[in-house]
Amino acid sequence: MRIERATHSRIHEIDFDNLPFGETFSDHMFVCDYIDGEWVDARVIPYQPLQMDPSASVLHYGQAVFEGMKAYKDEQGKVWLFRPEDNHARINKSSVRLAIPEFPKEFFMEGLNELLNLDADWIKPGIGNSLYVRPFVFANQPAVSAAASNQYQFIIICAPVKAYYSGEVNVLVSEKFSRAASGGVGYAKAAGNYAASFYPAQLANQQGYQQIIWTDANTHEYLEESGTMNVFFRINDTLITAPTTDTILDGITRKSVIQIAQDAGITVEVRPVKVSEVIEAHKNGSLKEVFGAGTAVVVSPISGIGYRGEKYSIAPVKDSYAKRLKDSIINIQYNRSEDPYGWRKEVVLVTA
Ligand SMILES: Cc1ncc(COP(=O)(O)O)c(C=O)c1O
Repeated sequence: MRIERATHSRIHEIDFDNLPFGETFSDHMFVCDYIDGEWVDARVIPYQPLQMDPSASVLHYGQAVFEGMKAYKDEQGKVWLFRPEDNHARINKSSVRLAIPEFPKEFFMEGLNELLNLDADWIKPGIGNSLYVRPFVFANQPAVSAAASNQYQFIIICAPVKAYYSGEVNVLVSEKFSRAASGGVGYAKAAGNYAASFYPAQLANQQGYQQIIWTDANTHEYLEESGTMNVFFRINDTLITAPTTDTILDGITRKSVIQIAQDAGITVEVRPVKVSEVIEAHKNGSLKEVFGAGTAVVVSPISGIGYRGEKYSIAPVKDSYAKRLKDSIINIQYNRSEDPYGWRKEVVLVTA
């Protein structure tokens, strides 16, 4: 792999205590091109703007997918990734759906490794601190014909971050707008899924909600996911979450939560969740917790659900599952506990 180091690091210009999420980027980026049916010229180069033709296919047809993962630093200065192979598998699953060529696993892992080695100082130790890693791939053939591109670029950029949400998270049940339809691209991390969610999210923000909670597009009776989180409901002491069908992203945090909860003896039901069931549980006092799970937030308690003009508040509970599960995952991520699952992967730092 070709490595071109930045001549000057920007790290000293960064206020690591005041980082808006995903607006500051590290010194380097990984880039690889798809030309003539092959991924070629894998390289790590200084972070820089891209050159793209105005006719580049992605700008017209949105043929692009991405991933989101994090690198963590432990107290000894070792760097860790959490289930990175799963991100690789998922970007390829997304790519297949968008007619984008799959990206080889060796390139993905090597690219991550080289990049994190060069930018390891951008990862600060301490719970909540991490380097958000954003792999993405997009169509850059200069052509406005509405067909799959024959050229792509795969890139990984990194942003130092602190915790994602601050304050309360209230979600509004959407019955008008849909995120994903059966047979569509909801299970893929396709760029356009997010573009389509911004307008409904803006309307929800105006009503005082931080996020939408999506329902199925056919009946609007079943709860799906919220923003960039899969959602869990604790009714009495049972944890319930929707199955990941073709309309829901197969979240890596979600499956980690399910595994850890089951191993802790918590009953987990993976099945369709009716809006009416959750509202009923709130009314009869059995809805104890609702929380989202995703890379950015890990686990984030939801303190209110808006539905048909009513707001149903969820008070914090003692012995919160959300807190227990979050702590367990964070302890694995930051190398503060055993990892019986083999989820944590060390990025071996080679000092130059
Ligand atoms: C739509 C959507 N659902 C769920 C998730 C959570 O997935 P993960 O836990 O893999 O980050 C994300 C974020 O990646 C997302 O964008």
